Amino acid sequence: MELPFAEPYKIKVTEPLRRSTPEERTKWIREVRYNLFALRSDQVFIDLLTDSGTGAMSHQQWSEMMLGDESYAGSASYYKLKNVINDLLGMPYFVPTHQGRAAENVLFSATISEGDLVPGNAHFDTTKGHIEFRRAVAIDCTIDEASNTTLYHPFKGNIDPEKLEAVFRAHPREKIPMCMLTVTCNTSGGQPVSMANIREVSALCKKYSIPLFFDAARFAENAYFIKTREKEYANHTIEDIVGEMFSYADGATMSCKKDAIVNIGGFLACRNKELFEKISMFCILYEGYLTYGGLAGRDLAAIAQGLMEGCDFHYLESRIEQTAYLGKLLKEYGVPFQEPVGGHAVFVDAQKMLPHIPQEQYPAQTLAVELYIEGGVRGVEVGTLLADRDPVSGENRYPALELLRLAIPRRVYTNNHIEYVATCLGNIYQRRNKLTNGLRITWEAPIMRHFTVELERIGENT
Ligand SMILES: Cc1ncc(COP(=O)(O)O)c(C=O)c1O
Repeated sequence: MELPFAEPYKIKVTEPLRRSTPEERTKWIREVRYNLFALRSDQVFIDLLTDSGTGAMSHQQWSEMMLGDESYAGSASYYKLKNVINDLLGMPYFVPTHQGRAAENVLFSATISEGDLVPGNAHFDTTKGHIEFRRAVAIDCTIDEASNTTLYHPFKGNIDPEKLEAVFRAHPREKIPMCMLTVTCNTSGGQPVSMANIREVSALCKKYSIPLFFDAARFAENAYFIKTREKEYANHTIEDIVGEMFSYADGATMSCKKDAIVNIGGFLACRNKELFEKISMFCILYEGYLTYGGLAGRDLAAIAQGLMEGCDFHYLESRIEQTAYLGKLLKEYGVPFQEPVGGHAVFVDAQKMLPHIPQEQYPAQTLAVELYIEGGVRGVEVGTLLADRDPVSGENRYPALELLRLAIPRRVYTNNHIEYVATCLGNIYQRRNKLTNGLRITWEAPIMRHFTVELERIGENT
C-alpha cells in the first residue's frame, strides 16, 4: 500500500476550541449583521477565514524570536533575512514591511501614477485596492479556463499571453509601470502559475520593456505545483524551482503571513538599485527604517527561518494534500467547488450549490452564513461583496464566480477538523433547496466594503 501524507511534525502546544450551539450562532451572526469578519474568534469553532498569519510557528521559529536583535539600525536579524532572500529568491535588494499590502503601498507609491495600467492575473483585493486608490487600473489577463470551476486545468493561475500582449500593444509603455503575477493566484482559487507561463510572461514583458513583479505570498506552494504537475520539474528541488521562478522576475511583494508561516510580516524585494533607492524613501516614510521596516527584529528572524521551512517538500506535500483531502470529501458529498483544488484553500461554488439565489442577493455570503450556523465554521465570501462596486458608476461588479473560500491555516488543524468541515457542507448540500432567502446590504464602506459591510436576511426584517 502507498503510505499516506503524514505531517512531518508533531504537536507540542495546544489551544482550546469552544464548541457552541446552532441557536447561539444564529443569534451571534444576526448581531454582527451577517458579516463573519465581525464575529469574535471564540464564537468560531473552526476558523477557515484565512490562511494569512494564522499558521503555527515551529520551535525553531520560536527560538529565532528569542534570538531577535532589536537594534534600530543594522540588526543581525535583518541580515539573517537578507541572506535568505538573496540565497532563496536571488533578489539582492529588499525592504521589510509590516505585511504584504504595506509592500504594495511602498512599491506602488514609487511606481504608479494616475491613469496607469497594471495587467496581471486576477489581482488580490488589496493589490487592486492600492492600484485603484491611485486612480490606476488593474487589468485581469487570466486564462478563460479559470472561470470554469468544473474544467480541469493544472495551472488556472496562468496569464493568457494574447490578452497581455493586447494590453501592451494598445498603450504606451510609460502607462504600464509593471505586470503583476500572483503566485499562486488567490482570487482564482489558489491556482498555480506554470513555469512555462512565467517564462512566457517574462519574455513578453522584456519585449515591451515592462518590469515583471510577483505577488509572491504563496510562492512555495506554487513551486510545489510546478514540481508535481509540470513533468520536467519532477526531479527538481523546491528551492531550485523557486530560484528559477524568481529569476524571471524584476521584483516581488511578499506577505510573509502565508508561505513564511509567521503571524505578521512582509517585504518588497527587487533587483534594480535605482528602484531600491526610490522604494527606500517610501519605506522610511510609511514603514520604518530600512533594516526593520515596521517589524520587530524577532519578526525578521522568524521570517528568515519560516521562508526556509516553507520550502520543505514534505511540509508542502502534507499541507497541500490536506487541502486536497477536503476537496475529495466534498466531492463525495456532491458539493461543487473550483477544480482542481488550490494550494491554500477550497473554493466552494455557491452559484452551483444555490442556483435559486440570484447574484444580487450574495449567494456565496449566504452560504458562508449557513456554514457558520451549521457548525461554527468560518469561511469567507469571494464573490460580489469582495468584487465591490465599479469606482466610476458605483454599481455592483458581478464577478464570473460566486465562491465561498475555505482557507486552511498552516500546521493548525488535523484531518478530523477537515472531516468536520466537509460534513457540515455535506449537510447543507442536502437541504440546499430549503435555503431560499439571500442577503441585502444595509451599510457599506466606500472601498473594500467586504470587511465591514452590514447585511440583513431578505424577508427577515421586512
Ligand atoms: C495574493 C495576496 N497578495 C497580497 C495579500 C496581502 O497581504 P497582507 O494580508 O499581508 O497585507 C494577500 C493576503 O491575503 C494575498 O493573498
